[in-house]
Amino acid sequence: ARPVRVVVLGSGSWGTTVAGLAAQNTPTLVWSRSSDTAAEINKEHRNSRYLGDRELPADLRATDDLIEAAHEADVLVVGVPSHAVRGTLDRIADEVRAWVPVVSLAKGLEPGTRLRPTEVISQCLPGHPVGLLAGPNIASEIADGLAAASVVAMQDESVASALQPLFASKVFRVYRNTDVLGCELGGVLKNIVAIAAGMAEGLGVGDNTRAMVLSRGLAEMIRLGVAMGAQPRTFSGLTGMGDLIATCMSPASRNRRVGEAIARGLSVEEAVAELGQVAEGVKTAPTVMELAREYGVEMPIAAEVEAVVAGRRTPTEAYRGLRRRAPGDEE
Ligand code: 13P
Repeated sequence: ARPVRVVVLGSGSWGTTVAGLAAQNTPTLVWSRSSDTAAEINKEHRNSRYLGDRELPADLRATDDLIEAAHEADVLVVGVPSHAVRGTLDRIADEVRAWVPVVSLAKGLEPGTRLRPTEVISQCLPGHPVGLLAGPNIASEIADGLAAASVVAMQDESVASALQPLFASKVFRVYRNTDVLGCELGGVLKNIVAIAAGMAEGLGVGDNTRAMVLSRGLAEMIRLGVAMGAQPRTFSGLTGMGDLIATCMSPASRNRRVGEAIARGLSVEEAVAELGQVAEGVKTAPTVMELAREYGVEMPIAAEVEAVVAGRRTPTEAYRGLRRRAPGDEE
């Protein structure tokens, strides 16, 4: 039988890295909106803008032609930022074959609609099996060949089982989970806590404070997730606590870097410009606070982060706010 052809949309650090993983298993094409990046991947097997000097598999191919990419896909991986998923998929809605499974890599919510990326994908490409790949997966470490694990979350377990070996390697273990909502929300919500962790780093708070932010941040993630219908235990797994720890600890995290830069005195706009990449938590924080109000759950850490990214509070004021929780509060 002809091998399954994987197409990855988006050539940022994670899209390119996932394409590199798939290319070790099966023919893989990555779509870049930049013709320079596509040419560099094809000719030099590098993506210097996002992955520096790291060498990509020689047989990973790239194109800047979205329609060509859509035609080739037996499996479609969506690695563009959350706010760009709909615009990208609308251009190829009539080009993707009907049964092709779609895997989201995006860890944000669509501004305005508040939809998760898998929900946006289902609206753009109705009838396709849709899931996601998520976990504690800092792209540069995986591109360096360091060991990691991830989760394919999908309602249909037989499709998930078929997808697992496309991304797995000796050092990249891929689990399955049917709680798509819980897995997807873990990746979305941890970005907001990572901004708080970055601010903690920049302010030089102690390790006890940092541990408080992580564990109480996880409590907020579970509270909103369960109210929305996710399984609580999903949040103690790779896509919840796992991704929260990796993102809050890693100096490479974009969300953490934005938090650190704001604590150094930069405005949010300056921090995002300095980063030169998308930190999903910046756009997601206000959307998550809308959901928190709608579902009637308390999210004090997310509320402080939202106030900081909206420019209503400084990081110092935000950390003061976090200490003001009433004594006697139940954990
Ligand atoms: P950042 O977007 O903050 O870099 O987080 C990366 C990530 O999600 C690792 O799993």
